[in-house]
Amino acid sequence: MTRIGVIGAGYWGPNLIRNFAEMDEVELVAVADRDADRLAGVLKRYPSVRGESDGAAILADDSIEAVVIVTPAETHHAIAKRALEAGKHVLVEKPLTMKTDEARDLIALADQKKLVLMTGHTFEYNPAVRHLKKIVRSDDFGGIRYIYATRVNLGVFRAGINAMWNLAPHDLSIVFYLLEEEPIAVRALGQSFLKPGIEDVVFLYLEFPSGKIAHVHVSWLDPSKVRRVTVVGGKKMAIYDDLDSEQKLKIYDRGFDSVLFEEGGIRDYQVRLRGGDIHAPKIEGTEPLRVECAHFIECIRDGKTPLSDGRSGLRVVAGLEAAAESLANGGKRVLIP
Ligand SMILES: NC(=O)c1ccc[n+]([C@@H]2O[C@H](COP(=O)([O-])OP(=O)(O)OC[C@H]3O[C@@H](n4cnc5c(N)ncnc54)[C@H](O)[C@@H]3O)[C@@H](O)[C@H]2O)c1
Repeated sequence: MTRIGVIGAGYWGPNLIRNFAEMDEVELVAVADRDADRLAGVLKRYPSVRGESDGAAILADDSIEAVVIVTPAETHHAIAKRALEAGKHVLVEKPLTMKTDEARDLIALADQKKLVLMTGHTFEYNPAVRHLKKIVRSDDFGGIRYIYATRVNLGVFRAGINAMWNLAPHDLSIVFYLLEEEPIAVRALGQSFLKPGIEDVVFLYLEFPSGKIAHVHVSWLDPSKVRRVTVVGGKKMAIYDDLDSEQKLKIYDRGFDSVLFEEGGIRDYQVRLRGGDIHAPKIEGTEPLRVECAHFIECIRDGKTPLSDGRSGLRVVAGLEAAAESLANGGKRVLIP
């Protein structure tokens, strides 16, 4: 049994609490939240779980081996650092931190103490995204050319961080997971309408060493909810629509065939449209968060490195940090070290 404590029982915390509470190999010992009403609401469902009014009480409990941090992004580094210092394995929600220095600090500490440090990149545990990866990396797909992702809705507005820091970690983690490449440069443009200095809509453009590109559009100021990733390949194309309950994944056997021809001393490309079938593979219905929680426990038990480890968290933070610099400088191209 792995003894676990969860810090943060706001909007997202209850989902992690439910998953860990339902796992046979886990004992959910305590949940902390500074908001007494939220805490009481969660504890009603789990009467044997101890409630704490601050995360510090969980960190001070030596019987707790692992801590799950589901507090606002701005607090992740400070709480995760204290948890690692207290000798606990840590699962931190996305984004891992708000600065690359902070992410590096956590990685070094976890390495030094031989503790598991995992980031909550939920979509890397999503069966549809995993299936998409198999398809787009197969020879049949003809190599990924470019990816674009849209994650928009009306809400949830955050006062502390902009839409990019709140929403884009998911899309960057999906893009990096699919491409298995890290970007070399980013440009970001956005605007704040509701609260000065907090961008409600952001457009990101990422360049990769292989020449591939990715675009990410995030917003909490949009009339309708869209959660979609489009991958364009050399031979096929794919759309992952997280909101489509029946056909989350669609593979289009469509594209262009471009053939170099030579006639009468003239060399040119002949580009021919190729239209084919659309295929929607069956995707297993497992809850991604359950897969993520089980993976955290497995890594603790077997001493394995998580798929979304501290380095994976750092990649995303590095992309966002560079994008924030670009955003502050009118969309300037910023190199990612
Ligand atoms: N993986 C996902 O799909 C997903 C979805 C939503 C949110 N998130 C992430 O989850 C995290 C939390 O988001 P949220 O929407 O639940 O925020 P929230 O503001 O609704 O909840 C955060 C809670 O943390 C509590 N808190 C803060 N500091 C604390 C401390 N030191 N001790 C005890 N309690 C403390 C607050 O009282 C609050 O109830 C964020 O990092 C967010 O990015 C992830």
